[in-house]
Amino acid sequence: MADASTGRELLRAEHIAKNYGQVTALTDINLRIDRGEVLGLLGDNGAGKSTLMKIFTGFVKPSSGQLHFDGKPVELSSVSHARSLGIEAVYQDLALINELNVYRNMFLQREPVKGRFLGILDDKKMRAAAIEQLDRMGVRIPSVDVPVAKLSGGQRQGIAVARSVYQKARLLLLDEPTAAMGAKESALILDVIQRLKDEGEMGIIIIAHNYAQIFDVCDRVNLVEGGRIVFDKKTSETSVEELTDMVVREYREARRSVQAG
Ligand SMILES: Nc1ncnc2c1ncn2[C@@H]1O[C@H](COP(=O)(O)OP(=O)(O)O)[C@@H](O)[C@H]1O
Ligand SMILES: [Mg+2]
Repeated sequence: MADASTGRELLRAEHIAKNYGQVTALTDINLRIDRGEVLGLLGDNGAGKSTLMKIFTGFVKPSSGQLHFDGKPVELSSVSHARSLGIEAVYQDLALINELNVYRNMFLQREPVKGRFLGILDDKKMRAAAIEQLDRMGVRIPSVDVPVAKLSGGQRQGIAVARSVYQKARLLLLDEPTAAMGAKESALILDVIQRLKDEGEMGIIIIAHNYAQIFDVCDRVNLVEGGRIVFDKKTSETSVEELTDMVVREYREARRSVQAG
């Protein structure tokens, strides 16, 4: 099971449960991700995937269970606590400011108390750093001087990811990053993920409905069902077809239970 001894383990969730009042979102989640690993988190709508992400970012407290980060038990008290450990999430709404240009957005949401970037870096440096980071990650945009409102969804997503990476993310959480995007846009964001993976140190969890799309970039996939991880396999040991069979089975069971009233 848990193998903190290799030093590769980044995050481990043990018996995580979460109730929202009467609603049980998560029953008993056991999950692990290593450094340099890309984990695809799959599951039906309402399966609890976003809830699990929010627990990992310190935004939602689990009702019970234990998280371990870097092999040590941790209680995430807030989003900024999780961030200080290097846990960063990129959400669909992206939290970019439309009117601001690209490099300004790259430097948003710094910890102001540290004043590390806003205090010391000037515009010229921010601009140069943004160009370098975006280039390194393969995020192609016409210019870092344009307001992000002028860019496509994929480019914006790329900027949001680049920002997290620049903030020294060690665990990057992507909740349905390609959900609202066309094929070309999705390809762009998957390319960015592939590059981060190739660098080999960051753990990345991608939540996806369209598992066929993310399959190739993942090292491992987990399926959430009934508030548990019911399937955990390396992508080299499974296939899109096997996942499809499981989703079809889940669908049939749901249908039967609806028909049974
Ligand atoms: N803030 C909340 N309050 C009450 N119920 C919630 C809240 N967030 C999520 N839920 C419920 O928890 C379950 C899991 O939701 P969610 O984590 O968003 O699933 P997913 O991301 O897999 O679609 C759903 O039944 C959802 O309605
Ligand atoms: Mg969700």
